[in-house]
Amino acid sequence: MNDIIDQYRVTQEPYYRPVADEVELFEAAYSVRMPMMLKGPTGCGKTRFVEYMANKLGKPLITVACNEDMTASDLVGRFLLDAQGTRWQDGPLALAARHGAICYLDEVVEARQDTTVVIHPLTDNRRVLPLEKKGELLRAHPDFQIVISYNPGYQSLMKDLKQSTKQRFGGLDFNYPERGIETEIVAHETGISLEVAGKLVSIAERSRNLKGHGLDEGLSTRMLIYAGSLIAKGVNPISACRVALVRPVTDDPDMRDALDAAVATFF
Ligand SMILES: Nc1ncnc2c1ncn2[C@@H]1O[C@H](COP(=O)(O)OP(=O)(O)O)[C@@H](O)[C@H]1O
Ligand SMILES: [Mg+2]
Repeated sequence: MNDIIDQYRVTQEPYYRPVADEVELFEAAYSVRMPMMLKGPTGCGKTRFVEYMANKLGKPLITVACNEDMTASDLVGRFLLDAQGTRWQDGPLALAARHGAICYLDEVVEARQDTTVVIHPLTDNRRVLPLEKKGELLRAHPDFQIVISYNPGYQSLMKDLKQSTKQRFGGLDFNYPERGIETEIVAHETGISLEVAGKLVSIAERSRNLKGHGLDEGLSTRMLIYAGSLIAKGVNPISACRVALVRPVTDDPDMRDALDAAVATFF
């Protein structure tokens, strides 16, 4: 029975380099089962952090990548038809609530608001999930916690969380780590030297200053890791940066040239 949930255990400790006091704050939040919201740009460590915390707390982690086609049934569950007839299948939210996992809704603003509201009864004192089609009021396991992530830069008026949703969560800010730490992370994840990793971080810093001046989003830690991985495979650094850093983030020729010039400055 429990093998359903065992597949969600984070058995190996993920590498996570704390940036401030987020680990202690999250532990305190978990101890009171406060629903948590991780805010920050893409590729800055939110998913890695939640994996690390799930392992540290010894709780299974069920991750849902949210999208606008997602329905409440995709989260809660549905009846499936098989040879024996119909059979209820818990969705990821019900599974986490039933077995005491951490349920991580990644990029939650991507989901429609009428989908997101199904988490409300789990985020207040009731800690219940009504499985209406099944006629069950699921009471959350004491270990259950809900965590959401979102990128505050992306949402428009159409795509934002309702205040009634936001106010159910504690919030932790994430950002690209300061240069010493980011260099360490990039070197650790790719095997390149601190010196080369530092150059990638310098390029990223330039790009982050261009945010809002023709660039929607600066280069993320994740992208630096892609570039570093190519360099570690023997790709020449200029090509690696073009492929992994510059081409993905812009289609504008002037911006592309500006970023290519930043690459040429450091390599
Ligand atoms: N503080 C950190 N410690 C360790 N690795 C990190 C850290 N921040 C970012 N990373 C690295 O960056 C990658 C992207 O981070 P991720 O957690 O997927 O970003 P997000 O979920 O914020 O989009 C991770 O796979 C990891 O290699
Ligand atoms: Mg993520």
